[in-house]
Amino acid sequence: MAKTIVVVGLGMVGIAFIEKLLNLDEEKRYRLVTCGEESHLAYNRVALTDYFQHRSVEKLYLNDVQWYAKQDPDRFLFHIGEQVTSLDPIAHSVTTSKGRTITYDHCVLATGSESVLPPYIPPERAEKTKGVFVYRNISDLDKILAYSEEEGIRGGRTVVVGGGLLGLEAAKALFDLNTISHVSIINRQAYPLSRQLDNEGGEIVLRRIEAMGVQVLTKTTVKDITTSPSGVFTGLTLNDDSHLPSSMVIFAIGITPRDDLARKAGLKCHAKAGILVDDSLKTSVEDVWAIGECASWKGNTYGLIAPGSKSYFYTFLVLRFGTEMKGWVVEMADILAFNFTQVQTDVGGFSPRQMNMPDLSTKLKLMGVDVASFGDYFADKLSNGSTRKVGMPKVEVVAPTSNELNGQDTRPKKLVWEVKVDDIVTGSGSASGETIGVKVEIPKASEKAAGHAHSAKKRALEGPVECLTYRDPFSFVYKKYIFTADGKYLLGGMMVGDTSDYVKLVSLVKKKKPIEAPPSEFIVGSRKGEDDGGDLDDDTQNVTKGSIVNCVKGGVENINDLKAKTKVGTGCGGCMPLVTNIFKAELKKAGVTVTNNICAHFAMSRQELFGVVKIRKLKTFTQIMEAVGANGESVGCELCKPVIGGILRSRRRVSQIECHQGSILSSLFNEPVMDPAHHANQDTNDRFLANIQRNGTFSVVPRIAAGEITPDKLIRLGQVAQKYKLYTKITGGQRIDLFGAQKQDLPDIWEELIEAGFESGHAYGKALRTVKSCVGSTWCRYGIGDSVGMAIYLEERYKGIRSPHKIKGGVSGCVRECAEAQSKDFGLIATDKGWNIFLAGNGGANPRHATLFATDVPPSKVVSILDRFLMYYIQTADKLMRTARWVEQFDGGIERLKKILLDDELGICSELEKEMNDLVGTYTDEWRGVLQDPLRRKQFRQFVNTDERRPQIEQIKERGQERPADWPKQFPAAKIRLSTIHTPKSQWKWRRLATVQDLMPSQAGTTSVAAKYGDSQLAIFHVAKKGYYATQQMCPHKRAFVLDHGIVGDDPSGNLYISCPLHKRNFRLTDGECLNDDDYSILAFDVKEESHNLFVLLPDSDELDAIIGTSKWMVRRATAEVVDRGGGDGIEIAGMIDSEKQQDKPSSGCASQSCGSNLVLDW
Ligand SMILES: Cc1cc2nc3c(=O)[nH]c(=O)nc-3n(C[C@H](O)[C@H](O)[C@H](O)COP(=O)(O)OP(=O)(O)OC[C@H]3O[C@@H](n4cnc5c(N)ncnc54)[C@H](O)[C@@H]3O)c2cc1C
Ligand code: SF4
Ligand code: FES
Repeated sequence: MAKTIVVVGLGMVGIAFIEKLLNLDEEKRYRLVTCGEESHLAYNRVALTDYFQHRSVEKLYLNDVQWYAKQDPDRFLFHIGEQVTSLDPIAHSVTTSKGRTITYDHCVLATGSESVLPPYIPPERAEKTKGVFVYRNISDLDKILAYSEEEGIRGGRTVVVGGGLLGLEAAKALFDLNTISHVSIINRQAYPLSRQLDNEGGEIVLRRIEAMGVQVLTKTTVKDITTSPSGVFTGLTLNDDSHLPSSMVIFAIGITPRDDLARKAGLKCHAKAGILVDDSLKTSVEDVWAIGECASWKGNTYGLIAPGSKSYFYTFLVLRFGTEMKGWVVEMADILAFNFTQVQTDVGGFSPRQMNMPDLSTKLKLMGVDVASFGDYFADKLSNGSTRKVGMPKVEVVAPTSNELNGQDTRPKKLVWEVKVDDIVTGSGSASGETIGVKVEIPKASEKAAGHAHSAKKRALEGPVECLTYRDPFSFVYKKYIFTADGKYLLGGMMVGDTSDYVKLVSLVKKKKPIEAPPSEFIVGSRKGEDDGGDLDDDTQNVTKGSIVNCVKGGVENINDLKAKTKVGTGCGGCMPLVTNIFKAELKKAGVTVTNNICAHFAMSRQELFGVVKIRKLKTFTQIMEAVGANGESVGCELCKPVIGGILRSRRRVSQIECHQGSILSSLFNEPVMDPAHHANQDTNDRFLANIQRNGTFSVVPRIAAGEITPDKLIRLGQVAQKYKLYTKITGGQRIDLFGAQKQDLPDIWEELIEAGFESGHAYGKALRTVKSCVGSTWCRYGIGDSVGMAIYLEERYKGIRSPHKIKGGVSGCVRECAEAQSKDFGLIATDKGWNIFLAGNGGANPRHATLFATDVPPSKVVSILDRFLMYYIQTADKLMRTARWVEQFDGGIERLKKILLDDELGICSELEKEMNDLVGTYTDEWRGVLQDPLRRKQFRQFVNTDERRPQIEQIKERGQERPADWPKQFPAAKIRLSTIHTPKSQWKWRRLATVQDLMPSQAGTTSVAAKYGDSQLAIFHVAKKGYYATQQMCPHKRAFVLDHGIVGDDPSGNLYISCPLHKRNFRLTDGECLNDDDYSILAFDVKEESHNLFVLLPDSDELDAIIGTSKWMVRRATAEVVDRGGGDGIEIAGMIDSEKQQDKPSSGCASQSCGSNLVLDW
C-alpha cells in the first residue's frame, strides 16, 4: 500500500519535490497530495517580471495543464486555491480552507516566504491604504498593473524602496510599463546590490541604472508614507524629513519565511522566523519535513531558488538526471525526494543525503546589466565589514632540526616551528597589527608528505589574500577576482557587465584545486600557446613509424597489406589501434581517401554494416555476404567474421533457430555461438567459450559478479582446479582464472562449476568482463553508496552482451575510489548526493582516464544512462574500438554525447533503452547451453578420430603450480614443405580420418576439426560451396597446435586460407604457403569425401611424423633454452627449410626420431 505524502504549498520548491519524487519513485511506494493557496498551478516566480509583458500565467507555468491532466490520480492529486489552515501532527492530518481533512504518512511543508512591509505600515494600515504594494506573486502584479492604469495614477511617479535584487527587478519592470513615467529607487547603502558587490562594482551598476533614466537615491531611508484623507498613498517622508511625492510605492525590503502554520501546530521555529530543520530536513515533529524558503537550517533561511541565473531553474528541470541539479532551496527538494526513494533501491542502498553549506554564487541580469558574484566574494573583507589586509605575511620561521625533519623525533604533538605573522590578519583572526601564532604540529613520518601538502593548502586558503581588479568605465565592466596570497587558489570574485567566465570560475573555486595559469590570465586572457601538434608516437613494437610511412609511400593502402609487409600486429596485436591511427594519418597525408571499411569484403564501416543488418533483418553471415559483400561468393576473413558475429549476438529477440552468429550478429540477436552454422565464424575464444592459451589449452573464468563470492563457492573452485590440475590466479577484475584446461575437459569442468552455482564469465568474448567494486557501505566506514550491490546489479544486467570490444566497469562507494572506477569503460563513484558517472576510461596500451559524464545521479537513474551509453557505443563504434577511442573520435566529443544521451537531442534515448532491455531480458548462460546439447559438446574433442590426448607444450612446475614451459624468445622461422617427404605423392594413400558428420558441414559458414595420424596432428576444414581441405595442425610460428581453431578466410584473389588464431599468420589451404609472412609455410593435403567418410591423401605415418610429429615439435624447457642460447641457428631442421637453404646447413641430430625430454634435439 502506497504511503501518502501531503505537500503544503504548490510553489517552486513544492512542485520540484513532487516532480522529483514522481520521477524517482519507480517502485510507486508513495502517493502525493498537495494544496496550493494561490489560484494558479505552480509557476516560475523567478520569471515573475515577464508577466508584465505577456500577462499570461500559463506562460509562467512550470508544467503545463496537460502535465497535470496526465498524472495518475492514484499517484498525484492536487488542489489549488485551497489553503492548509491547520496541521495536526498527532492525528497525522491537515485541514484546509475548504474544510477538507487529509491524513498523511509524511507531511512536507513548502510554504515559501512573504514580502515584508516596514514597521510603520502594519497589516491593518496596509489594507486600508491604496497605492502600497509588495512584489512576490501574480496577485501582487495584477494589483500593481490595475492600479497603475487608474485615472490620476497613470503617468505618475513610482518609487521602489530597496536596491537589492528584488528592488532592481521591480524597478526595471515598472520602468518598462507605459503607464508609469518616472521610477525612483531608494537605497539605504551608497550603491545598489551591496550584498553581492563592493563599492566599485556597485558604482558601475549605479551609473548604468542612472544612465537609463531611473533616479537612485542612495544612503537614503524612509521614515513614513504620506496618504490623502481617503487613504490614498501620496509620497514618502525621507530620513532628512524631505518629502518625495509619488503615486505608488513598492516595498522590496526583504522577505520572511511563512512559518505561521508550523508555529500553530507546535513545530519548533527560529526566534526570528523559519521552521527549524535538521540536516535531513526533518522538523521537530515526527514525519513532518520542511523545504524551501520556509525552512531554517542551522539558523539560516535562504531566498534564492537557484543561484546561478534566470535560466538556471529551467536547466535544472530539463536535465532530470542530475547533471545540473544545483541550486539552493531547490536542493532541499532534491535531498528529500532522494531520501524518500533512493536509500533502498533495486540497485543497492545509498546513504541518506544531508544538507551541506550552500554555494551562494549568483548570476543575474538586473536593469539590463549582467551581474555575478561567486565563491567567497567578500574574502577580502572581515566579518566586521572592515577590509582584510592583503599582501604576503612577514614570516619568521623557526627551522626544524634534521632529526625532526627525518621523523626520528617521536615526541607526541611536538611543535616543529611557529610562524609569526606580523601585520596581517588571518581569515578568522583579529584586527590588523596583532601577531598571530600559527602552530604546526609535527606530522608522523608516514603522514608527512600528504600532510604537508594538505596543510600548505589549508594555510593558503585561510591566509591572506590578493585581489586582481579590472575596471572599464567606458563599457561599464568591472571584475574583481580574489586569490590566495601565493596566487595559487581562486577564492571568489564578482563581475559586472561581462559574466562570460562565471561558470568556469565557479567550478574552479568549488574544486579548490591550484590554478594552472598565472592569475593575470583570468583578467587579460591567456597568451596563445604553441600548438602541441599531438604527433604520433614514433615506434610500436619493433615496427617503426618510419617503416609504416615507407609502406604508404610504396603504395600500401590497406591494413592487411601493411601487416603482410611489416608483420606489425602479428605479435600480441595490442599495437594495432596505434598502428591503424598512424597508418590512416599517413594515408591522409599522401592524399589517399581513408575509409573505416571493415576489410576488403565489405566496403562499409562496422557502424554502417550494423545499420544494414538491423534494417534488412539479415540473420546469417552468408546472407550478409550475399546481400552487401564486395563478392557475394566470398567466405569472409578473420576481420569481418568476428565483427559480424558480434553484431548478431546483440539481438536476442530472434528465435534461436533463426539465429546465426558472428560480433554484429551477436550484438543484434545474441544467440548461442556454438551453432555449427556460425561456430567457425567466431574468434577461437568465442568458439570454445574459453580463452585459448599459448600451449593450446584454455582458461576458465566463471563470473564472480563484483568480486563477491561465498566461501562454499571458493572451495568448489579450488576443488575443480585441483581435480583438473588447473593453475589458478586472481585477476585484476576481481575473479579467479583457472588456466591449463584441455579443450576436451572444458564441458566437464563447466558441468561441475554450473552445479556449484557458477556461470560463464565471458572472459573470452568482446563483452562485459567485470564490474569491479570496493566493499562500499556494506563494510567500509567511509562508504556512502552500496558499491557492491550496484556493481552486482550492473554486471548481471550487461553480462553476455557482445560489443565492439571488451567492456569493464567499476563502482566505488565514495570519492576515495578504491575500485579504480575512473579507469573503466563505465565507472560510478558515490558522492553525498548520488553517483558520479564516469565514461570511456581504459587501461591497456593506450590508457585513458574516464571523463566525468554526469554528476550526483540518483541510484535509480544510473542504469538508464548506462543503457543509453552502451547501446549507442555498440551500435556506432568501429570494430575493435574501445569506448575510450570511440568517445575521442566522436564528432563533437563528450559534450555532444551528453546532449545526445542526457538531453535526448536526437530523440533516440527511449529506443536505445528499449533495445538494451530486450537484450538483457533474453540472457542465457552459453555454457549451460553447450552442456545440454550433445552435438555442441562433441565440438570439444581434441581429435575426432581418437580419445587420445596429446599435450602440446611441456608442463613445468613453478611456485607450487604447473604451467607451460616458456616459449623461446624467438623460434627460428620454418618453411615446412611437401617436397621434403621422400615418398612420391603417387604412392601416398587415402586414409580415413573423419566422418562427414564430425565436421557438421554447413552452407552458412565453415567448420573444422583436428585428427590424429600417427604422432602427427592434422586440421580438416569444410568450406561451404568449395569442399574439404586439410593441413598440418601446427602453426610453425610458435609451434602451436591450433590451426583447426582458426578462421577460414579468402583474399580478393580468391585464395582460401586458414588464419592462425594466435598471431594471425594466414596459410593457403591449397598449398600451405603463408600469405602474410614469407618466412613460413605448412603442409597441405588433399581430402575426398566417400560414403559419408573423409579421406586424406597421406604418406606413411612414420614419414610424416619425422616432419610434423607432435613429439618432434612439442616445446620443452630444454628446447627453449637451447634456442635462446642461439643453438637453434646451427641445427638442421629436418624437412622444414627450403631445399636451397638446407644445402647450406650442416646436418645434426636424429632427424627421424622424436627426442623425448632429453637435450638432444632432432632439429
Ligand atoms: C520577482 C522575483 C524574482 C526572483 N528571482 C530569482 C532569481 O533570479 N534567482 C533565484 O534563485 N531566485 C529568485 N527568486 C526567489 C525564488 O522565487 C524563491 O526562492 C522560490 O520561489 C522559493 O520557492 P518556495 O517554494 O520555497 O516558495 P514559493 O515559491 O513562494 O512557494 C510557496 C507557495 O506556498 C503557498 N502557501 C503558503 N502557505 C500555504 C498554506 N498554508 N497552504 C497552501 N499553500 C500555501 C504560497 O502561496 C506559495 O504559492 C525571485 C523571487 C521573486 C519574487
Ligand atoms: S572507495 Fe574505498 S574508502 Fe570509499 S567506500 Fe569504497 S572501500 Fe571505502
Ligand atoms: S601465427 Fe603465431 S603461433 Fe601461429
